Amino acid sequence: MQDMLQAILDQVRPLLSQGQVAQYIPALAEVDPHQLGIAICSLDGQLHCAGDARTPFSIQSISKVFSLVQAISHSGEEIWTRLGYEPSGQAFNSLVQLEVEKGRPRNPFINAGALVICDINQSRYATPALSMRDFVRHLCGNPRIVSDAVVAESEYQHRARNAAMAYLMQAFGNFHNEVDAVLRSYFHHCALSMSCVDVARGFAFLANSGYCPHSGAQILSPRQAQQVNAIMATSGLYDEAGNFAYRVGLPGKSGVGGGIVAVVPGRYSICVWSPALNASGNSLAGMRVLELLSERITGSVFSAVP
Ligand code: DON
Repeated sequence: MQDMLQAILDQVRPLLSQGQVAQYIPALAEVDPHQLGIAICSLDGQLHCAGDARTPFSIQSISKVFSLVQAISHSGEEIWTRLGYEPSGQAFNSLVQLEVEKGRPRNPFINAGALVICDINQSRYATPALSMRDFVRHLCGNPRIVSDAVVAESEYQHRARNAAMAYLMQAFGNFHNEVDAVLRSYFHHCALSMSCVDVARGFAFLANSGYCPHSGAQILSPRQAQQVNAIMATSGLYDEAGNFAYRVGLPGKSGVGGGIVAVVPGRYSICVWSPALNASGNSLAGMRVLELLSERITGSVFSAVP
């Protein structure tokens, strides 16, 4: 496995100069684009790594899965009165549908949907940012995970689009807490700094019917874990969800920090990271790594079990 991972990274390395690191968050624009890492957590307890697998990066929208899981674990099906689980076919930060659909976001992975989920969690926890940080530490078995205050502040200073979404939803009666406080929590979650190893370990429960092998906790029921995987498969990569299903064929979630996490139910959780993005805001090299991995090692959820 190790040699195969190294060979895939070597094959993909020429792509590193083709994408562009996220420019709209100044703190992310400074990240060196020539980094590439992968970690695979196998449910039999093995960890396989290659490249920059232990370098922390900004998880950004990957955090939307953790927020959703928190919300499902305390409010269950009730959350779907506030948002949907249909793919949007739009950019992650688009405002267009939100106005037409009266402030009800299509799904929890576009920014509008993640903000509603953060609003739900804001009503539930006294200190939402700390609750999230501790939840993630517990899932990964790493008590040193922190949120990068410089990245969070940089996002807050450039919050206009996210603030516009939150206020639009407030105008439609679908936002209950103070907008600024929820934005602060949301940016704190996005700015969590984690390595591929952390993220792969943190998603193992979704490959394992909701049971976290590191903490020994049942995080979600098997049915709920399956549902989160389904939403990742249909909406995890925004307007590229179809392309990702076609090329990789796994439930996945990307972030503008260049991370992509993928789940092979019953077998693996995987995180690949490379900061340079394609036009849809997904890691350009990361997409290719996962495509080769699915061809050579993991298979796709749309194929017979290899
Ligand atoms: O709110 C934002 O725009 C960022 N904090 C997160 C966006 C993101 O990661 C989208 N994923 N590809």
